[in-house]
Formats: sequence, structure tokens, C-alpha cells
Amino acid sequence: MRNLIGVVFLAIFFIAACPAKKEQNSLIDQKVQSLLSKMTLDEKIGQLLQKNGGSFSDSVVKACGIGSVLNETNVEVQNRIQKIAVENSRLGIPIIFARDVIHGFRTIMPIPLAQAATWDPSVVEAGARVAAIEAASSGIRWTFSPMVDVTRDPRWGRISEGYGEDTYLASEMGAATVRGYQGKNLSDKNSIAACVKHFAAYGWAEGGRDYNSANIPENELRDVILPPFKKCIDEGALSLMPSFNDINGVPSSGNEYLMNNILRKEWQYNGVVVSDWVSISQLVTHGFAENGKEAARMAINSTLDMDMASPVYETYLKELLSEGTITIAQIDEAVARILKMKFELGLFENPYTNQSDFPAMLNQQNLEVAMKAAIESAVLLKNDGVLPIQNKVKTIAIIGPLADAPHDQMVTWVMDGDKKNSVTPLVAISLKAKELGIKVIYERALELSRSKNISNRDAVVKAASQADLVLLFLGEESILSGESHCRADINLPGAQEELVALVAAQNKPVATVIMAGRPLTFERIIEQNSAILYAMHGGTMAGPAISDLLFGVVSPSGKLPVTFPRHVGQVPLYYNHRNTGKPATNKSWERIDDIPAEAPQLSIGNTSHYLDYGFEPMYPFGFGLSYTTFGYKNLKIKNSNLSLDGVVEVSVEVSNTGSYDADEIVQLYIRDLVASRVRAVKELKRFKRIHLAKGESKTVTFELPVSELGFHNQQMKYTVEPGDFNLWVGGSSNAGLMEKFSVK
Ligand code: BGC
Repeated sequence: MRNLIGVVFLAIFFIAACPAKKEQNSLIDQKVQSLLSKMTLDEKIGQLLQKNGGSFSDSVVKACGIGSVLNETNVEVQNRIQKIAVENSRLGIPIIFARDVIHGFRTIMPIPLAQAATWDPSVVEAGARVAAIEAASSGIRWTFSPMVDVTRDPRWGRISEGYGEDTYLASEMGAATVRGYQGKNLSDKNSIAACVKHFAAYGWAEGGRDYNSANIPENELRDVILPPFKKCIDEGALSLMPSFNDINGVPSSGNEYLMNNILRKEWQYNGVVVSDWVSISQLVTHGFAENGKEAARMAINSTLDMDMASPVYETYLKELLSEGTITIAQIDEAVARILKMKFELGLFENPYTNQSDFPAMLNQQNLEVAMKAAIESAVLLKNDGVLPIQNKVKTIAIIGPLADAPHDQMVTWVMDGDKKNSVTPLVAISLKAKELGIKVIYERALELSRSKNISNRDAVVKAASQADLVLLFLGEESILSGESHCRADINLPGAQEELVALVAAQNKPVATVIMAGRPLTFERIIEQNSAILYAMHGGTMAGPAISDLLFGVVSPSGKLPVTFPRHVGQVPLYYNHRNTGKPATNKSWERIDDIPAEAPQLSIGNTSHYLDYGFEPMYPFGFGLSYTTFGYKNLKIKNSNLSLDGVVEVSVEVSNTGSYDADEIVQLYIRDLVASRVRAVKELKRFKRIHLAKGESKTVTFELPVSELGFHNQQMKYTVEPGDFNLWVGGSSNAGLMEKFSVK
């Protein structure tokens, strides 16, 4: 009740504080209703269609208009079609041009998974802003991003497009992305509409195989999967896209409970819902709808406003209406939401794009944002001191298929990026080396990351043996991750392990940079390397960023947004799991090689682990090294006995105890020790990226409202249960100081 009063009070305060916004909304609503009252049924249905560029005729636009066109980036063509819609159609409703601008338009940012590794919402927001301005300068005012699908499966190709395994991190990153796209003022010509996707549980695809079914209990759905969507909606995301998959047998494009009950009724979401590509028709393929007509009915009943690229709304809505199986009120609501978005974006006032109104793409400022994001996203996983590159190094051998792969460093969903703008690690390192008088030898060794034969073995051996340091560039080329590019084996593909062995046999220090779209399992090569930098795919500026990190211009500071398993057979392996009744410890792990012959089957002392791979990951969530070291002390909770409406106030002193200036990501985790549903052993609740010069200390503070410590109980009610909690603050999910607090 107390909470409810708080919410009501806040709402009143908000409404009173934002009269201008309220007025503007009601003005837009009036305009929408007035326009709607003039529209014919054909014109209404026209607004519910999203057509691919080139797939429709001018006469259709003239006769009844089209809601949206996707994948048309030629501004002249856009303006020509727009002119027909605005000046030659009866009501002059503008078209909204849409595109998958996922991690940059022309200036390519690191993949979203790498952006999550920055743990820096400000750089993520800045990257999305750059993307918005560049996209808008090409007439695109709607992107299908951010993807906030939490996933625990590195086999899933689309793990690259999201923010990893954690609900809180994905929420923060998703919200930052929405802010970046939509800018401060929606009607600015450089603001574009965000579309939070894929609602929901798309990252839960069984076996990590894309489009596959998701089986998930509702309380887990609500606690783990849905919060990032809610956060993005609260941030103002103008649109949302349902997922391809079914959840417990119900495909999202026809999931009335998910869309209607949760999204529209519970969350009061009044933004546009656009289907995924042909996903309404796919209700038939799923075996959920008998035919296209039934699919259209199901989608309308699930409040899907716009049909992306499938023929069903266009073909069947009229028939459904005349049969009385759907109502005109449903159509009107959908049209109203689409018109509202167009009004909000100022499309009625400024329907055309004039590229000269915008700054040049790939300008210095944009490249600097991309560079910062790429620097902050690389995670140092191992370093025995070989990095940063020491003064004594006079010859460097750069070896591997990804050192000079300008296309591959941009990676998935780069529809408008051009590889000629990518600066590769080879180019950037060579430049820096020249400045420092270091000789560089380059051998690609493998044509592609998946090539099975090392070309020119002798040259590789020669290069490595001549060098004081070998820099190996390994990983996955672009096309091995992304939509429907899932892998059952997530080792380094092709002959890369053989390449590592060949290089290691030359007994020179080796630092490996891994560029990949997902966590890979590379345990077998760790020993052979002195250092490993996991750079994922860094986009346009990956090369200069990696070069600066290797030469120590700046210290690595990224932290893993997802657990790295030792072996794919451990998947799903994630840090915020529940405790079993028989949790494993190093002592309890029964190693396969230690089991005596004909050992009897006993259960006493057994614990939850694999005989061969134990129970721990290769690297835990939140982990990442630096060139410096950090010390944590004086963890304090101001008031450790809290009421349900209290706030946990935490402070900790963090010091840079090493010899490099560097950023650290301070992470706060909690555990609810006893609850009516078993809670995770750790849950991330707050984080902060801070900069510390060598020798410097800072007191970092966090405020965590008790109301955020809850979960959905067995009755599906969000609840905070009184009791004891552990709280950790540290630089990784498996490290940190611990204190306790209680909620009464
Ligand atoms: C993807 C979406 C994307 C859409 C439009 C689909 O295949 O699942 O994420 O936005 O295509 O290109």
C-alpha cells in the first residue's frame, strides 16, 4: 500500500511537473483522432503495412498510402516516394523509413555484446546518438534496436546483438541505447524511433538454435527476461517488436497474454508494435494458425499494429472485419499508434530528407565515439606481464586471419558500413610501430577464421622466430555470428588451434587478440599464450583501439557481460544461478581421472558438477583484468536494518594500487538468503565505471532501494520478502568484499 501511495504521488508530481509534455501529447492525440476520422478503411489498412523498398508501386502509395518502408536508403528515392504520399495522396500522411541500424550506420560501433562489456551507459548512448544522426541523414527515422534479449547461450548467433546474460546490465544498456536514438527531442530531424526487441524470450531458444522454442516458467520470464523491455519502455521507446519464437507453445506474434495482457494492460504501453519479418504469416508455419486469415486475426488480437513484409494484413483484414471477427476499433487503435509515432517524430512537418542539413558521416567526432567504445569494450583475460608492449620489443610478428579483415571487424547487421572505412589492427599497429621504430612482420596464415589449412607454414614459423613478440589475431569472422548463425561447437574454428601450437613452438612470447561475436571456448590455448585480449568485434575503429590497448596508451577496462564456459557442454552456465541442494566445491568435484575402476555408485557426498569439466566457468561474468591493480576496502552499509520502503546505502573505497592510470568497473551484487522461491546465488544490482590515476583512491557510493530486491513469487506477485541479504562490492562477480543487511 505504502508503495502504491508512493507511485501515485510520483505520478501526480510528474504530470504536474510536465504540463508542456502533457499538452503536447493531447495536441498530438487530437491531431491523430482528427486524421483518423477522415480515413477510409483502405487508408487505415495502408498505415498498418511495412513494405520492403522496391516491393510496391507508386500507385499504391497514391491510392491509400503505406505506413512504413524498410530498407530503402537512397534519399532521392525516399523523397520521391514521400512526395507521392505527402503531396499526391488524399490525406498526405508521410511514410516512415526504417532500417536495422543495430550498432552504427556508417560509423560502425562495437557489436552490442561488446558495448555491454564497456559497462558504460554513457558511451553506449553516445554510440546510438551517432548512429541516429547518420541514419537520419539517410532518411531513416526508425531503427529496430535495441535488442535486449537476455541469453545464457553462447551458441546462439544473436548473442552478439544483445547485452549478454544479465537482466540489470541489459536494462541499463538498452535504456542508454533508447536515449541515444531518440535524443532529447523526438521531433528533431536527427532523432530516430527505437524499437525494443524481441519480445520475448528470443534468447531462450532451446539449444541456442535460432528461432527455436523457449520454455520458461512465468516467474522466471518476469524476473529475468521482461525487465529490460520494461526499462526501455519507461525510457520512452517508441516501438517494440515481438519475437519469432514460441514461449511454452505460443508464438509471440499471436500471444495475446504477452502482448495484450502484459504489454498493453499491465504496462500500459501505447507505442507501436511492429511484427518481425513475416512473423505473422509464420503463425501458420508454427502450426498455431490454420491459415493466413487466422494469423491476421491472432496478430490483431495480440495488438500487433504493423505487419512487416508479410501479405496477411493487406489480404485479410477487410474480410475479418466484414465477418465481424475483428472490430474497427482494433484497427483504429493500431492506426492511431502509428500516426502518433509519426506526429511525435515531426514527420508531418518535415517529411523530406535534405542531407546537407546533417554533419558528414564518419566525421572525427563520430570516429572518436567509436574509438572510445572499442577501447572500453575489450576485456583483458590473461596477462603475465607481456602487455603493454615493452620497450625492449624491437620486432613484432602479427599473425592470424583477423589482423587485417576490415569487413569482419564490423560484423553482423552492418548494412550500411563500408569495409573501406575500417581501420584494421594491422594498419594501426604498423603505424604505431613505425613511430616507435619497431619492425612489423605480417603473416595471415589462414585465409579465413574457419580455414582448415595453414597456408605458408614456413613463413609463419620464420615470422614468429624472428620476433620479440607475436601478436596473434584469432576468432570468428563476421558471418559466424548473428541471426541464424548459431554454432554447436564454439571452439576457435578451422585450424586456429593448430596455428597457436605452431607459433607457440617457436618459444616467443605470444599475446592473442580474439575478435568474435560470442564467447568462444579456448581453454586449450590459454597456456600457450602470455596474454589474451578479448576484443569481440570492435567496428570501424577496432584497429586503433586495439593498438592503443596493446601499446599501453590506455589500460584495458572491459568486463565480461556473459560467463565464458570452459566447454560448450556446460551451457547454460551463468553466474546468477540458483543454489542446488548439493552445490559443488573444488573439494567435492569428483574428477573423471580419479575415479577408481568399478567404483560403486554412491550418492553420499555427490554434488552438482561434471566429472570432466567441473562446475566453474573459464571466466566468470564481470571479470576483466587491467594493466594496474585495484584494491577494495571499507565496504560499509549505512543502515543494515531496513524497512520495505528503505534504501540500501553503500560505500566502498577503491584504490589504484598498481602503476598505470586506469578505469575500474565497480560492481554491486546481492543475494537474498532465504525466500519462498530460491533466489540466485548472486544478482547484479548496480555498477559504476570510475577512473583512477595510479595511487589514487575514491569512495564509491551506491543507493539501492529495497523495492528492487524483489521477485515474482509462486503466486506470480512481485514481492520483497523480509529477511537477510548478502551484499558484495568488487571488480567481478566472483570477487569482492561482503557485508550483510536485513529487511524487516
Ligand atoms: C530480425 C529482426 C530484424 C528484422 C528486419 C528479422 O529477421 O529478427 O531483428 O529487425 O529481420 O530486418
